[in-house]
Amino acid sequence: MVNPWDQDESYDYSDLWLGTKTVSRHINHKISGNESVNWVEYALAAYIVRDDPHKRCLVLGASEGHVERTLRKGEYSGYILSTDIADRALKRARERSCALGYSNIEYRVADLNIDRFDGPFDYIIAEGVLHHIERTEECLTHLRDILAPGGLLIAVEFEGPFRFQLTEPQVRWINAALSIVPLEFRPLSGNVSGVPADIEYMQRVHYVVASEESVRNIDPSEAAAGPRLKLLMPAIFNIVERKGFGGTLLSYMSGHFPFDQANADARVDRWLQVLLDIEDAVIETGLLEDEFVFYVANAKCGV
Ligand SMILES: C[S@@+](CC[C@H](N)C(=O)[O-])C[C@H]1O[C@@H](n2cnc3c(N)ncnc32)[C@H](O)[C@@H]1O
Repeated sequence: MVNPWDQDESYDYSDLWLGTKTVSRHINHKISGNESVNWVEYALAAYIVRDDPHKRCLVLGASEGHVERTLRKGEYSGYILSTDIADRALKRARERSCALGYSNIEYRVADLNIDRFDGPFDYIIAEGVLHHIERTEECLTHLRDILAPGGLLIAVEFEGPFRFQLTEPQVRWINAALSIVPLEFRPLSGNVSGVPADIEYMQRVHYVVASEESVRNIDPSEAAAGPRLKLLMPAIFNIVERKGFGGTLLSYMSGHFPFDQANADARVDRWLQVLLDIEDAVIETGLLEDEFVFYVANAKCGV
């Protein structure tokens, strides 16, 4: 099985919407109300007791370990069990924690389809991992069962279509949004600049849905459980807070828009802001839904 997050080098986000400062600020603002405060910092301020060394936190999809580093930097003093199926990424996370002198963090390779944890945990923090889990209901039920009384699940997750099999309206909105971008920022545009695409270019270059098989070949767990997660989260947990943060158009634009240039080129960044505005309008007017969501939830009894 191929896991793109478990390679010799850290996963490279630079060509994705999430790799840009403008998108990070946009998401921060949607979740925390402050473009400088990310979702972990927001959870730390709003929900997490920092000065109690007896608190216990389970991190899922820890990968390179930024969640536990943010927790420690924010002076969370409790125990952390940091987990992922990716042993190479987790090894790098452990090394960075050691180098920073952080203690009371345990690292454990675990497969959320199979492995179980000994609770209780006051906080379970999941980042972009639950949508990879085939056995979604069993996993979520287990997480509910190991929450301490009053414990919280804090998650940022993808809830979009199974293996990115987008609907026709969604594909149209992606291509409509891309069509307004000046050609110099589009692929295969030759030396043409200063104008948007013409019909001939749009027929030649446009977003198409990758086949389910090709998505599975890259990573069989990718986007395996988005729709199930969307249904099961409110069935298994009481939702304390739920905030969508888009991704419905922009997360599919890699290869069509130069996200990797946005941090350095103010013109690219300006068009990125336009694309974010279009995505917001499409979602705010009810045409499509957020695919990425921030959750704070607690256990629903008797389910
Ligand atoms: C989208 S990445 C998110 C990584 C990190 N939290 C981030 O946002 O950069 C998905 C993560 O889920 C992990 N993962 C995939 N399948 C898993 C499984 N069955 N059990 C545990 N972790 C899994 C991957 O190794 C990867 O670290």
